[in-house]
Amino acid sequence: MSVPDAYRTVVSKRDSREFTADPIPEEVVRRILQAGRMAGSSRNSQPCRFILIRDRAQKEALAACCNSAMWAIEAPLVVAIAVQDGASDYDEGRAAQNMMVAAWAHGVASCPFTMHNAECARRVLGLPEGWRPGHGIAFGYPKSEESRHRGQPRLPLEELVHHERW
Ligand SMILES: Cc1cc2nc3c(=O)[nH]c(=O)nc-3n(C[C@H](O)[C@H](O)[C@H](O)COP(=O)(O)O)c2cc1C
Repeated sequence: MSVPDAYRTVVSKRDSREFTADPIPEEVVRRILQAGRMAGSSRNSQPCRFILIRDRAQKEALAACCNSAMWAIEAPLVVAIAVQDGASDYDEGRAAQNMMVAAWAHGVASCPFTMHNAECARRVLGLPEGWRPGHGIAFGYPKSEESRHRGQPRLPLEELVHHERW
């Protein structure tokens, strides 16, 4: 399996919300999950679990817990991240971005979404005590070239970067 270089993959990854119905091969799904698994976490606490959702009714139920994720129903794969109580959002973010970048290296587009109604998401996902809903990530092959190019511009480096002090 050949993949583009890491820098190109990282800087060309944009969030896509339109997917084809093509399923993601299991080998690629496994790589996505491995990338999430290998993310570092505070004191190696590994506070995330990944819930794979392919069933349409389950995607609909989860999207109903969100303010802005109806588009995710059409994605062939949704990964809902469960986070251990007390864990840092930073740890979840590292795992999430690892998965999205690894997916993109295999041509699989993605977009994260917020589970705004946490109680609703907790119920739909069947989370045990001590775990909370983090974010969902929709994965799939991009519907069109154009659907990949709706990204927002980024601040110029000159505005982002300071030297020695702010
Ligand atoms: C923490 C987080 C939560 C997000 N929640 C949502 C969401 O609920 N719905 C949605 O459509 N996009 C969501 N997004 C996607 C952002 O809108 C997207 O990352 C941003 O617009 C940049 O997109 P681009 O890379 O295509 O320019 C979320 C992104 C992050 C990082």
